[in-house]
Amino acid sequence: MCATKRPDMPEQMTVTLTVNAQTRELVVDPGTSLIFVLRDEFALNGAKLGCGLEQCGACVVLVDGEPVYSCTKPIGDLEGKHVETVEGLAADDGRLHVIQESFLQLNAAQCGYCTAGLIMRTKALLADNPRPSRGEICAALDGHLCRCGAHPRVIKAVERASARLRERKR
Ligand code: FES
Repeated sequence: MCATKRPDMPEQMTVTLTVNAQTRELVVDPGTSLIFVLRDEFALNGAKLGCGLEQCGACVVLVDGEPVYSCTKPIGDLEGKHVETVEGLAADDGRLHVIQESFLQLNAAQCGYCTAGLIMRTKALLADNPRPSRGEICAALDGHLCRCGAHPRVIKAVERASARLRERKR
């Protein structure tokens, strides 16, 4: 599956992309969706393909700190960008990120299909707004579907992560 290819895009192009700590120069069809580049070129499967239509949020990763639907983002738009995926969150020694720990502690993942997208969205939210209200959390997560119905626990996990991150900064 490819993102919609614009007429101005060439058949192939070179794109330099940093994913987590790895920078690579790739020769790609610029219309290829980012999620497939993550899988095929970087062997990263954390972002999940759900709807492929920017409807479910399972594929969300961060591009220069902003949440992006990787299912539809053409790689041709990402020259020089920095992509963060859920695989990049843990420390080098394997210690989980506070957001990941909070999701685990509150059982915020049930089947887990939507979890990586939710965690990356939470990272962007807390970077912008370290003390979000419950309403702000719900609004930020609005574009994420969870068919298991774990949303109440997800919201509590975001609140816990927010509190723990603030505590660390004291
Ligand atoms: Fe990208 Fe659903 S797979 S939003």
